[in-house]
Amino acid sequence: MAEDRLNIDLDSLTYPLFVIDGKGIKEPISSMPGIFRFSPDRLLEEASKTKERGINKVLLFGTSDKKDECGTGGYRAGNTISKTVKLLKKNIPGITVLTDVCLCAYTSHGHCGILKEQGNIDKKATLSALSSMAVSHAAAGADYVAPSAMAEGQVRAIRQALNKNGYAAVKIMAYSAKFASQFYGPFRDALNSAPRFGDRRQYQLDYTDRKRALKEIADDIREGADIVMVKPALGYLDIIREARDRFKYPLAAYNVSGEYTMVKLSAKAGYCDEKSMVSEIIKSIKRAGADTIITYHARDIATWMSREKA
Ligand code: PBG
Repeated sequence: MAEDRLNIDLDSLTYPLFVIDGKGIKEPISSMPGIFRFSPDRLLEEASKTKERGINKVLLFGTSDKKDECGTGGYRAGNTISKTVKLLKKNIPGITVLTDVCLCAYTSHGHCGILKEQGNIDKKATLSALSSMAVSHAAAGADYVAPSAMAEGQVRAIRQALNKNGYAAVKIMAYSAKFASQFYGPFRDALNSAPRFGDRRQYQLDYTDRKRALKEIADDIREGADIVMVKPALGYLDIIREARDRFKYPLAAYNVSGEYTMVKLSAKAGYCDEKSMVSEIIKSIKRAGADTIITYHARDIATWMSREKA
């Protein structure tokens, strides 16, 4: 079979990037072939290169070696993500920067929120920490903040905090229908963010529960989200389609780490043509109704497309 032509609108793609503290670091992530952890200076190089190839949107994820109970590394003054946002906005004209807002890469227990003694999420403390994080990213110049902790009321709390601090223009991309999924495995390895005990079922959705997913999306729209998201993407194309038809609202789909790594490993083993498989995946997610696709394949797609044009 001949290779598929990609012909994808690069403006519909968002490229996730992992940031760590330090200088001069570009560290391969073994669970995600072709993906790296960058220090801010090296991340600037990567984002500049991909921007030249037509990728205008990046989604930043941070992590920290110095984790604590409350995940303060994620929102203290001068945090790594804020530094990186500043650097990107200053040096790459026209780039759109989105930032993940969650605590799991910064907490010693690896959960997405602050915990009470019994291991349950402390809602008030969690919303306050997430709001501080969002405001610190907004102050650095982020265009969108993307709360992914699945804490009840996170979109409303963040919207209010942004408005109160003078960032009414900063938008929110909400991880609305985020399912508890095995497909996040490689990502947790990348950020060292797996829960040290228990799992995320307390706050992420049951993948058999279609109705709850749609309710979460409706709630986030009501709370003030500018874009709603379904995550993962491939096993959830029915939810994407239903959300598209029901809400007629800007819709993102997250083609997650496990989905990426499956493709990379089977291509490496010679079981598929990678470019054609990526084309089929991205176009299927689009066909289901997503406007924006967050995908680790974004850089490869841009590179393949520049060759198609040549
Ligand atoms: C943080 C977060 C996760 C992902 C995005 N934000 C992991 C998780 O919930 O465990 C997963 C992304 C991916 O797998 O590519 N809460």
